[in-house]
Amino acid sequence: MAKTTPRVFSGIQPSGTLHLGNYLGALKQWVPLQETHDCIFSIVDLHAITVPYEPKDLQQRILDVALDYLAAGLDPKKATLFVQSHVPEHAELAWSLNTITPLGELERMTQYKEKSYQHASTSAGILTYPVLMAADILLYGTQIVPVGEDQQQHVELTRIIARKFNSRFGQTFIEAKTQLTEAKRVMSLADPLKKMSKSLGPKHYIALTDDEKTIREKVAKAVTASGGQTTGEMDPGVKNLLVLLKEFGTSAQVKKYEAAYADGSIRYSDLKHDLADALVKGLAPFQERRAKLAKDPKKVWKILHDGAKKARPIAQQTMQDVKQVMGLA
Ligand code: AMP
Ligand code: TRP
Repeated sequence: MAKTTPRVFSGIQPSGTLHLGNYLGALKQWVPLQETHDCIFSIVDLHAITVPYEPKDLQQRILDVALDYLAAGLDPKKATLFVQSHVPEHAELAWSLNTITPLGELERMTQYKEKSYQHASTSAGILTYPVLMAADILLYGTQIVPVGEDQQQHVELTRIIARKFNSRFGQTFIEAKTQLTEAKRVMSLADPLKKMSKSLGPKHYIALTDDEKTIREKVAKAVTASGGQTTGEMDPGVKNLLVLLKEFGTSAQVKKYEAAYADGSIRYSDLKHDLADALVKGLAPFQERRAKLAKDPKKVWKILHDGAKKARPIAQQTMQDVKQVMGLA
């Protein structure tokens, strides 16, 4: 019987072990989706090389993300897991899409503006990064893209590119939709006005692989009341800790601290203590599974190679259709 379940595609860059933002914004919602949807999850190495990196570390970084995927509960029997560069059609489709993507759309992307500001010399790859992401999504007839909020703009651009392509060459691509979680934008612990990200440095994030001591230290140092809050809204640092407590602790705990915040009796040391406990307890099973899987890297690479073998025929079919309508075949 032909498969009619909706297609899901998402990916994470191999730029180090994942943090709570990656987990709560993306990976966590992928796990239940594999039960009900036709899921393809990639490790997007071609995206990761758009910023300065160490070539000799890249294979290990890919393996690290694969371990995170598997330890979080992704199951190669239910979802296709593969490395982006193992399916060359991603780069091939990206070129064709480049030829119809308006430069102005790329230049207004928030991530491009931030990254080109961070890095002294900006490569064309940083600018055309969303075109490669559009290729990832469009190659597989994707309907749903589960990502964190920072990637929503890129999925919107993917829709624009699909529409432009379809109107120029005829109906070829489906327009995909973003799917966000409740914790769609986890903030940095040390600077809660910025999103949690690896590039800010270790005190800003909690890695899924951080040990108990590190987790307790990072939570203890997290910024809470930043002062100067005049809008009547909760301090962003406190709000962020409560988002984490909601995910890893209980709603009763969250309610207790919300009430204490409202009447001014909140003790941040108690909140931090409860949150650190919940994180240590919540991450322990993940870390145990990961440590076990890490003992057999060959098995993990085999999962990724098998995944590419499943993904590639779908990508090849799309590329053939694209070549046909573009007059390249
Ligand atoms: P990246 O590490 O940039 O490849 O991101 C992988 C996934 O994690 C994407 O879906 C991002 O939107 C998501 N993500 C990254 N940082 C955060 C964050 N601070 N909060 C929520 N989601 C995030
Ligand atoms: N750009 C995404 C990020 O940095 C990763 C990514 C690449 C992606 N291709 C994708 C996410 C396709 C969803 C779908 O987080």
